[in-house]
Amino acid sequence: MSGMSGDQKRPVHLPVLLREVIEQLDLTPGLVVVDGTVGAGGHSQHILQRIGAEGTLIGLDRDAMMLNFAGEKLELEKLSAGQCHLRQASYAELPAVLEELELESIDRILLDLGLSSDQLGDDERGFGFESTGELDLRFDIRTGVPAWKLLETLSESELCEILEIYGEERFSQRIASELVKQRKTAPIRTAAELIKAVQQAIPSKALASARKNPATRVFQALRIAANQELKQLEIMLESVLPQVLKPGGRAAIISFHSLEDRLVKQAFKNQAIWKNLTPKPIIATQAEQRVNPRCRTAKLRVAMKT
Ligand SMILES: C[S@@+](CC[C@H](N)C(=O)[O-])C[C@H]1O[C@@H](n2cnc3c(N)ncnc32)[C@H](O)[C@@H]1O
Repeated sequence: MSGMSGDQKRPVHLPVLLREVIEQLDLTPGLVVVDGTVGAGGHSQHILQRIGAEGTLIGLDRDAMMLNFAGEKLELEKLSAGQCHLRQASYAELPAVLEELELESIDRILLDLGLSSDQLGDDERGFGFESTGELDLRFDIRTGVPAWKLLETLSESELCEILEIYGEERFSQRIASELVKQRKTAPIRTAAELIKAVQQAIPSKALASARKNPATRVFQALRIAANQELKQLEIMLESVLPQVLKPGGRAAIISFHSLEDRLVKQAFKNQAIWKNLTPKPIIATQAEQRVNPRCRTAKLRVAMKT
C-alpha cells in the first residue's frame, strides 16, 4: 500500500475514533495533555484546539519522520494555542521528558498504538508489503535491532516463539523453519523476500484461501519484536501512568490487536489506581469503518486515575 502522493511526502493517515477520543478525554482550556503517539498529529490538532492558549500539549513519537509531519500540522494550531512540545522519544520515556520540561504531572494522556498509514507508505523501512527498502521495521532506527538482523541471528525456536506470540501465527513452526533454511543460502533483506519465504512455508490450501496477505501476521510479529512494543506498553501501564497522571486525570488508549488490548484491559482493572470508564471498549461506527478500514480492529479503553 502506498501512503504517499507525488514526490513530496505528505501525511495521509486518518485519526481513528477521533470524535470518541476527544469526547472521552473531557478536555478543557488550560490542561496539560500528552499525546504519547503523536504520529502525524491528527488527534493532537483537535486536542490543541480544545486546551486553548493556556494549555500545554506534549507530543511524543519514536519516529522522526512522523514528528516532522506532526510539526507541520501543529504549527498552524500553535499560533492560537498554548505550549506545544514535540519530542522524539518512546512514551515509556515520558518521565524524563516531563523532567526536562519541568512539569511534575499531567491531566490527560492519549496512546494510539501501532503504526500509521504513513509508515506503511514509507518505502525505506519495509513496513508495507510493497516497500523496496531494507526490512528494518523499527520506528526509531537509532535504537534496537532491524528485523532483517533478527531474521539472520535468532534461533529457529526464538523465531517460532516471536511468530506464535506476537503474530498469533498458526504456521509459526513451519515458517520459522523455512526462514532458517533460507538464510543459509540467501538471507532475507526485503519485504518481497519475506513474503516469498512465508508463501513457500505455509500449506498451499491455506495460501489459496487466504483473505489477506499471508505474511500479515509475520510482519506484525517482527515489527512488535523489533520495537519491543509490548514491553514499552507494560512499562507505561505499570510504572509511568500511575506515577505521572494527576488524580482525576484520564488515560485513553487505542489498541489494534488482542495482545495490546489484553494488557490495557488488565491494567485498568486495578481499582486501587483506576476507575474504568469503558467496561466495554469503544469501537468504530460502521460509517467510520467504511471510510477508514484501518479502524476495524481499533478498541478504545479509557480510565480515570483515582
Ligand atoms: C497509529 S499512529 C498515531 C497516529 C496519530 N494519532 C494521528 O492521528 O496522526 C502510531 C504512532 O505511534 C508511534 N509509536 C509507536 N510506538 C511508540 C512508542 N513506544 N512511543 C512513542 N511513539 C510510538 C509510531 O511511530 C506511530 O507514529
